[in-house]
Amino acid sequence: MPSLSLPRSWSSALSPPLPLVKIYLDHHYLFCKQPLRLVPLKQVCDGQLDCLQGEDEANCPQWVPEGPPAGARVSKDRSVLQVLNSHTGAWSCVCHDHFTPALARAACEQMGYSSQAGEWGLDPETEPVVPGRGAKSNSSPSSCRKCLSGLVVSLFCSNCGQSVRTPRVLGGSPAAIEAWPWQVSLQYRKEHICGGSIIGPGWVLTAAHCFNWRVKAGSDLLSGTATIAVEKVFLAEVTPASPKDNDIALVKLRSPVHDSGDTKPICLPYFDEELVPGTPLWVIGWGYTEEHGKLSERLQQAEVELIDEQSCNLAAYHGDVTDRMLCAGLPQGGVDTCQGDSGGPLLYSGGHWQVVGIVSWGQGCGTPSTPGVYTSVRAYLDWIYAVRRVSAQGGQAAPFC
Ligand code: ARG
Repeated sequence: MPSLSLPRSWSSALSPPLPLVKIYLDHHYLFCKQPLRLVPLKQVCDGQLDCLQGEDEANCPQWVPEGPPAGARVSKDRSVLQVLNSHTGAWSCVCHDHFTPALARAACEQMGYSSQAGEWGLDPETEPVVPGRGAKSNSSPSSCRKCLSGLVVSLFCSNCGQSVRTPRVLGGSPAAIEAWPWQVSLQYRKEHICGGSIIGPGWVLTAAHCFNWRVKAGSDLLSGTATIAVEKVFLAEVTPASPKDNDIALVKLRSPVHDSGDTKPICLPYFDEELVPGTPLWVIGWGYTEEHGKLSERLQQAEVELIDEQSCNLAAYHGDVTDRMLCAGLPQGGVDTCQGDSGGPLLYSGGHWQVVGIVSWGQGCGTPSTPGVYTSVRAYLDWIYAVRRVSAQGGQAAPFC
């Protein structure tokens, strides 16, 4: 479709601007500034320059392919650090004996945590893990046993997943932001579009179809409070064969959100934590409170449970649910996420709160046997690490060992 050019005198021709005309134009066109020109939104970020100054191709999302695994990972078994030997491809624990803060920083950087933010550290309150004691031996690489001191490293790169304990009631009840301080609203022209979760000072995790908007943090009310501008959106590559796959995006904020009572990051899941069906999980959001309803002014919370992939597919979704998705809801229906909740977290409380899923899709809302489907965050950990690394260093970090 050709872009629409307007004469220089267009503003006087439309003056005083009719609000309806303006709303229509805003929804369908981008205004190029010099020379003044309207470009259909379809042509924005299509790889072809339509505005002479390039506004239509500036600030476009960046596609990041899923690369090789990061050189470090942290196990659910007391946050034991494992590092990848890039020559043998084997994972091993790290001995406490000669471990230094510089190595801790390097390991956290592998997972995309920035050292400037001072996020990394060995948890001084947690005793290092003694291999073989308490830890499930099958989840610990065998080289854990070779440490002289007998101690391996437990690593905490972020002070995440902390929230005040307010009562959480089942079945869509108003929520306080202090209970879910990582929850943000992604907004476009002041309108709520999607939810999202703060996963670090400058990062919001959301769904792929929720980008390019402004992010609003630290409020359980939709209206009011300031917004934070988006610097860049990162998307995982989409496969036309399964368009519902890879519904994940990372939003880099122009300025970091600092920890406060109302804004705190949520933890990412452990690479090796497989939740069992029936595990209680929480969902939050400003989405519709009934199927054809409207957005909720107050943040809502509800408890759901994990449903296994097979019965989720059998009951309703005919194989559309892949192993990189999670289903959650209640067998009898009634409690679910809905339109406007997309991008928001599916939360698991395992010592600290973790974002195990991202609200993605579902048939209807709350209908029995058509539960909500969520992007499995665990399946995209390496992608998340890669995006944060690439963006922090403008390239790949050197392998850990
Ligand atoms: N795609 C929806 C959105 O953009 C979320 C749908 C979730 N549906 C469900 N039944 N859980 O907000």
